[in-house]
Amino acid sequence: MDLAQQGPTRPLGRAGFSVSALGVGTNRWRQGANDEAVQETYKTLLDGGVDFVDTAEIYAFGKSERLIGDCIGKDGRRAIVATKFAPFVARTSPRHLLAALDASLERLRLTAVDLYYVHFPFPFTEMATFAHGLAEAVKSGKARAVGVSNFSAEQMRRVADHLAKSNVPLAANEVHYSLLHRQAETNGVLDVCRELDVALVAYFPLASGRLTAQPDPAKPGKLDDLQRALGEIGQAHHASQSQVALNWLLARDSHVIPIPGASKARHATENLAALRWTLTADEFARIDAASAALAR
Ligand SMILES: NC(=O)c1ccc[n+]([C@@H]2O[C@H](COP(=O)([O-])OP(=O)(O)OC[C@H]3O[C@@H](n4cnc5c(N)ncnc54)[C@H](OP(=O)(O)O)[C@@H]3O)[C@@H](O)[C@H]2O)c1
Repeated sequence: MDLAQQGPTRPLGRAGFSVSALGVGTNRWRQGANDEAVQETYKTLLDGGVDFVDTAEIYAFGKSERLIGDCIGKDGRRAIVATKFAPFVARTSPRHLLAALDASLERLRLTAVDLYYVHFPFPFTEMATFAHGLAEAVKSGKARAVGVSNFSAEQMRRVADHLAKSNVPLAANEVHYSLLHRQAETNGVLDVCRELDVALVAYFPLASGRLTAQPDPAKPGKLDDLQRALGEIGQAHHASQSQVALNWLLARDSHVIPIPGASKARHATENLAALRWTLTADEFARIDAASAALAR
């Protein structure tokens, strides 16, 4: 069954396949710590049409990947899985990337991942080196598509150019993007995603939970106007603030795929309901204005 068919999907750039328009971030998933809550979260997400799971070798020192492997084994349904290579010092060659991919696959108990990212640029590593490793990951059949994370517009272009020599598209750039952090709109990343048709996978889309909080009348703060707008618009749609914040990102550009972190089923249920409704143009503009006054 193609789980993504249950709700709105977005193409993963030019990778040739689509994922649910919302994914889930798993840096708080930790085998041995919150197994049952996470397994229930996984089931809730897949039942609700969210099939795009984002992890990394460094999340909880591999325990996030291990728990995703457990979830797939227990649930029986395989989500679309993205994981990442961390190019630390003395670990930057294509050989290191391919060895790290093998280790991730072992923890995930998969023969291939759907998307393999370089987690962040390493200052002394050429973009060609990363691209070479990523292209090899695709050629080996161990990664269906490849991407980068925390790369600038210029770095994206260079990696994409090198990948093109191997006929491999750059599928995604995963960057920090929320109503409180809109640098992707001004630093060229969103523009390059549009131009090259690369998915912009948005991490921290709820500003680590800050966008889900309501203003405290006893303690006025600079987020009050934005939180009030999110709350009031949410009420009009019988929706939570988190759904409004996620819907704003989805409406901002068709390349954006937010990956809110959730390790509790109730949070997953709340967030995935964002896929069932959309903002009006006036609502979008009100949130945009309240956020523009705050966002960096
Ligand atoms: N590529 C990178 O460099 C990078 C860096 C950072 C993060 N990431 C990825 O991005 C993902 C998202 O980041 P994040 O999880 O730190 O930040 P986030 O998505 O902005 O916020 C998640 C936090 O909000 C809570 N939450 C989720 N839904 C909620 C709701 N409906 N109501 C109230 N609280 C809610 C979660 O709680 P519970 O966990 O208790 O459900 C969690 O504490 C990560 O999991 C990771 O996969 C990538």
